[in-house]
Amino acid sequence: MSHPASADPTSPRTRCAAPPSSLLVDRADVLADPTGYRILTGDRPTGPLHLGHYLGTLRERVQLQDAGVETFVVVADYQVITDRTDTRDVVANVREVVLDQLAAGLDPLRSSIFVHSEIAEIHQLMLPLLSATTLPELQRNPTVKAEAQDAGISAVSGLLLTYPVHQAADILAVGGTLVPAGDDQLPHVEQTRAVARRINERYGAGTLVPPQALLGTSPRLLGTDGRKMAKSRGNAIALRDDEDRTAMLLRAAVTDSERTITYDPVHRPQVAGLLELTAAMSGRTPQQVAEDVAGAGAARLKQMATEAVNETLRPLRRRRAELASDPRVVRDALDAGASRVQPVARATLDRVHAAMGLVHR
Ligand code: TRP
Repeated sequence: MSHPASADPTSPRTRCAAPPSSLLVDRADVLADPTGYRILTGDRPTGPLHLGHYLGTLRERVQLQDAGVETFVVVADYQVITDRTDTRDVVANVREVVLDQLAAGLDPLRSSIFVHSEIAEIHQLMLPLLSATTLPELQRNPTVKAEAQDAGISAVSGLLLTYPVHQAADILAVGGTLVPAGDDQLPHVEQTRAVARRINERYGAGTLVPPQALLGTSPRLLGTDGRKMAKSRGNAIALRDDEDRTAMLLRAAVTDSERTITYDPVHRPQVAGLLELTAAMSGRTPQQVAEDVAGAGAARLKQMATEAVNETLRPLRRRRAELASDPRVVRDALDAGASRVQPVARATLDRVHAAMGLVHR
């Protein structure tokens, strides 16, 4: 059997089921032809991963890996400094994120998990990509605008402004053809496609392969206060939290004063968030959970949410504790990832240089 991560790195993948012109790819097409795609996705190591990550991307990554799609995961340490200056926790957070990924079922033998700053070729590739990007294009990106606003930043850094292109470099350097994405990440995948096409127009068809996006199936999870889940808001349940802490956080979740539980995302967003969480963690629909709870009220709903989260995460948390007790696990996984990614990124950079005629020996 050929190793999934050992495919010829010099030939970009061109096979894809949907017409290459479409941004979105159908899940069914991917599952019908898993070896026709290569995934590149990633996380910003700003803290341990939480339930939003798990339902939004992590669970799906593992499913796609297990379906046989070659998978690359960047732990994007350079993205931490897009909107903050403190780097003291980055190394520890990289470790947490990698433990979360491994505990969730990413297998370092099949999937390549790597640290952004350890692969120099990615960042060098960003320069030709930036040359094919305009300032208005960068300034238009709605996700960057929203993130700058969220972080309360008045003067956007060059790295924050250009991070969609940096992300394009992550994707294109490893020849990723499929990017699992929430809708907030779609502008970045568009940007990646645009810059790849422009490089191809300027320097030669087939130099880079424009990727496609795979939209996630889970609804965006709200935090325990009804706002978007984020560690910085203190409203997130981390995968590594224990069962008591999970219960405590969910008991403190904000609801409303109406006793009977109904699923009404517009008028009762916090209750709807708890219903969606419980549903997603127990394979039911929010309506079914609401009918089960009905007149028993918010306390019962929180209890059901706690049980669903704790039961679903129990094997993951157990495995995480085992992995965390071995001091070499994380570094070994990252070494394996780096040793597979580096030659692929090198080959891409060489191909771009060759297309541009930047060959000096
Ligand atoms: N921006 C992504 C996040 O916030 C992380 C990331 C970095 C990424 N590079 C990527 C995602 C490339 C998809 C593709 O989690």
